[in-house]
Amino acid sequence: MEDRKTVLSCIQPTGHMHFGNYFGAVKNWVDLQEKYDCFYGVVDYHAMTMPYDPKKLRNNTWELIVNLLAVGIEPKNLFVQSLVPEHAELCWILNNFCSFGQVSRMTQFKDKSAQSTDKDNFISAGLFDYPVLQSADILIYRADYVPVGKDQEQHLELTRNIAQRFNNQVGKDYFVLPETLFTETPKIRSTADPARKMSKSAGEKHYINVFEDEKRMRKQIRSAVTDAGDTVEGEMSAGVDNLFELLKAAGKQDAHKSLMDDYHAGALKYVSLKDAVADALVEMSAGFKERKAELNANKKDVKNQIKASSYEIRKRAQQTVKEVKELAGLLNVRF
Ligand code: TRP
Repeated sequence: MEDRKTVLSCIQPTGHMHFGNYFGAVKNWVDLQEKYDCFYGVVDYHAMTMPYDPKKLRNNTWELIVNLLAVGIEPKNLFVQSLVPEHAELCWILNNFCSFGQVSRMTQFKDKSAQSTDKDNFISAGLFDYPVLQSADILIYRADYVPVGKDQEQHLELTRNIAQRFNNQVGKDYFVLPETLFTETPKIRSTADPARKMSKSAGEKHYINVFEDEKRMRKQIRSAVTDAGDTVEGEMSAGVDNLFELLKAAGKQDAHKSLMDDYHAGALKYVSLKDAVADALVEMSAGFKERKAELNANKKDVKNQIKASSYEIRKRAQQTVKEVKELAGLLNVRF
């Protein structure tokens, strides 16, 4: 189909994929593949901006690739950022189409540099430049839509400003101004502390790995906090709400409805809700794990496939960079 719009999104290769990532973002990426031309990047250049271990980065990248494929991302849509080095080249060019002041206002930088100060007292220049590299990720494929959470809206705004400024300076409507694609996705919270979102940074008990073994997964759900004692009279507690949210996200609408009826009748047993959630997640995870095992058994093929898709995707990036260099007054010579 010719008229398909382009979608781009990226994810950093850090740690495990948990149900917060999956229901909150990745599942949406999988679904978008039906309607759009999708580009999904594993952004290892971005992963270098915080203190990191070079010995682990490459493994994390491949691990995330396998995880994304296992849950349904199509290999042809997936690339590794460092296999498309034009992202970094475009970033350099774009650096000159945004102001220092503008980049200084990014709140993600402020948050992350505060974290970094706690840890090693090292804030890289790369961390500061992170949003410009993100703009390059998006503009290089002329993406129409970028599915991201609200926390990324400021980076999208910056991207549009950069694109606009570039277009004005070169006197041509070259870059597409990308829009944020907001999709209502469930915001899953930590089962151990429903006051915070499910995340890896909070520690082991605060996230449930999508590929977790059944026993541990059941245990984690069994010990989910249902009522932390801060419940407002007549309102559902955050923990119970989160369990219902998980059940719905896992596609168990019928169980959701009947347990919700129990809740409203004052007859809900938490253990029934937990068992229903555990059954649903275990069932879903079984399919993913099976797929992951197959992929891992053919790791070589997987790597070759992703190298090939990155190579194809790179052609598109190269074309953009070629045109951008032309417009920006840089030299373009084929050696
Ligand atoms: N900054 C994004 C995040 O923290 C990750 C990212 C990098 C990204 N480049 C991107 C997201 C391009 C969308 C488009 O989630």
